Amino acid sequence: LLVTLLSSRQCKYKTADWLMSQTRHRPQVAIICGSGLGMLADTLKCQDTFAYADIPGFPQSTVQGHAGRLVFGELKGKSCVCMQGRFHMYEGHSLLKTTFPVRVFKLLGVETLIVTNAAGSLADGLKPGDIMIIKDHVNFPGLVGLNPLSGPNDDKFGPRFPAMSGCYDKGLRCQAMEIAKELGVAGLMQEGVYAMVGGPNFESIAEARLLHRLGVDAVGMSTAPEVVVATHCGLRVFGLSLITNKVVKCYEDTDSVNHEGVLEVGRLRSKTVQQLVTELISRMEIN
Ligand code: 6GU
Repeated sequence: LLVTLLSSRQCKYKTADWLMSQTRHRPQVAIICGSGLGMLADTLKCQDTFAYADIPGFPQSTVQGHAGRLVFGELKGKSCVCMQGRFHMYEGHSLLKTTFPVRVFKLLGVETLIVTNAAGSLADGLKPGDIMIIKDHVNFPGLVGLNPLSGPNDDKFGPRFPAMSGCYDKGLRCQAMEIAKELGVAGLMQEGVYAMVGGPNFESIAEARLLHRLGVDAVGMSTAPEVVVATHCGLRVFGLSLITNKVVKCYEDTDSVNHEGVLEVGRLRSKTVQQLVTELISRMEIN
């Protein structure tokens, strides 16, 4: 374990150095694209693209619908880096690997992290195709000790005991809601609490009911570890969940979730999510 930890400590510097030697972009904003939401990367100008397989030290993506490449480029005059395809705990990656790119982004000079994901809704007011601005999260794996910050703290990145209150930046959330109004999609948008579960199976009905009673609005299998690591190293975070389905929480219900359905709603609303994120980046104040 110590060997793994130490080599991963060294590795992110090598990865960041290698990337900086391969591209002239010095991104201020990083975007992690969820299932079916990777098209944003295609809109970047002056692209430099790297398959994960070609980046020294980078983990490999194994999920369908996640492309597995890092795209550097400009969006509305801001220098960005976009992850097309993320790493999930259920793929068997350690959380250290899952969140490895976030620390690489920090080393590249990134100050703001935007995360998107596909999620199932528990809140009655959230329908498939709606977009939830993440106000807060419940990191279920984290609550039982599956945390990317477990182990010796890397003081160069942040404190041993980082606060998580206010980790989803209020200013960015307000700005996103303003943009939604201007784009005429405010009816699709509301703020809510995202919960991460380990997956890869979707929730049982009893689990869904439990989450609902705990005050969770949407559930998915990603995002929380990346946000924890980003907050630890002082990145400003904005998160969006695209609601792709309602979680079955009633024994009389006959429909069930599947990955293809999740990807389909992703494609249907990807344009709107893309417009929102693009406009948010465009208005962002960069230090
Ligand atoms: Cl219903 N559950 C989980 N855990 N993740 C999802 C989902 C449901 N729908 C999309 N992603």
